[in-house]
Parts: sequence; C-alpha cells; structure tokens
Amino acid sequence: MLEETPASRSRSVQTKLVLPPDTNHMGTIFGGTVLSYIDEIAAITAMKHSKSAVVTASIDTVNFISSAKVGDILNLEGVVISTGRTSMEVYVKVDCQNLETGNKTVTTTAILTMVAVNNDGKPTPVCRVVPETEEEKSLFQNAQKRKARRLKINEFSKEQAYDK
Ligand SMILES: CC(C)(COP(=O)(O)OP(=O)(O)OC[C@H]1O[C@@H](n2cnc3c(N)ncnc32)[C@H](O)[C@@H]1OP(=O)(O)O)[C@@H](O)C(=O)NCCC(=O)NCCS
Repeated sequence: MLEETPASRSRSVQTKLVLPPDTNHMGTIFGGTVLSYIDEIAAITAMKHSKSAVVTASIDTVNFISSAKVGDILNLEGVVISTGRTSMEVYVKVDCQNLETGNKTVTTTAILTMVAVNNDGKPTPVCRVVPETEEEKSLFQNAQKRKARRLKINEFSKEQAYDK
C-alpha cells in the first residue's frame, strides 16, 4: 500500500520573463507559450509527487484571464489537487507581475491530468495526495465530478476521431 503524501511536498514554483519572441504583434504573450510553461510545471509537480516519469493525459479548464506583455514576470505555481490509481490532477496558477508598478494579476489557471508511467511507458500507481490549504481542499472535493465530465468528453472525442 502506497503511503499518503501532503500536497505541499510536491508544490512547485517557477518564474519566467516575457521576452519579445514569446509575444504577438501587440506585444502580449502567445497562449501557446503560456500552455507550454503550464505543461512543464505540471510535469515537475507530478514527477515530484509520484517520484516517477509522467505523461500529460489531458489539459482541461484552461482559463486565460488576462494577458502579459514584454518585460512582465510570470510566476507559475503547480500543486497536486487529487490522485487516482495512476493519475494526478495538477492545478496550475499563473500570476503576472509588473516590476515597475508592483501590480500582480492572475493571468491563467488550468487543471491537467498527469499519469505516472514506468520504464515501459505503462501507467504505474501513485501515492494518495492529502490536500492542505482551503483552496486545495475545495478543488479536491470536486475531483470526481471533473473526472466524470472528462470521461464523457474523452468518449465523445474518440467517437469523433474514429467516425471519419
Ligand atoms: C495517458 C496514457 C498513459 C493512458 O494510458 P492507458 O493505457 O489509457 O491507461 P489506463 O486506461 O489504465 O489509464 C491510466 C490512467 O490515466 C487516466 N487517463 C487516461 N486517459 C485520460 C485522459 N484523456 N484524460 C484524463 N485521464 C486519462 C485514467 O483515468 C487512469 O487514471 P487512474 O489510474 O488514476 O484511474 C496513454 O494514453 C498515453 O501514453 N498517452 C500519451 C501521453 C503523451 O504522450 N502526452 C504528451 C503529449 S502528446
């Protein structure tokens, strides 16, 4: 039986500087660039929790709330909010910090499902996560609802893909 692990043990933070190649003609960051940062921090968080390699199974509930521009600092934070047998839901929050004004705003939030895999790339069991903060506990409570919705969407996507 795998032991339980508190969420704080795998909580991860990363800081990025928004540079011109990351931005569009209006000088604001590409959504795809933010998504790649989110995928990376989610993978780091899930690897720390599972102590194994992981793959991204799905990215859902991505909310681009506000933009970031050249020279802004992005602070990313990842935390495991629920676990299944081999999967981990990771919540990622991205804050944008303007160094001149000191203003901080949430730019993006996302929930990803990462799956721990063994050396053959097969799903492998993970420890149960124990949520600690109020935000983690509230996200943990709705994990089953999110999983059910995700399964429904996955079935629909597969039907669409194989119908052609
Ligand atoms: C994710 C993957 C390992 C699942 O493999 P599988 O053979 O379907 O394994 P299972 O059916 O046993 O599912 C394993 C876990 O993944 C979860 N899962 C599978 N597909 C999922 C999806 N699309 N979204 C969310 N969770 C998913 C299952 O619910 C299960 O969770 P649990 O063990 O906690 O109950 C496999 O589909 C894969 O390798 N995909 C490619 C991942 C990848 O390369 N990502 C990078 C970007 S392309």
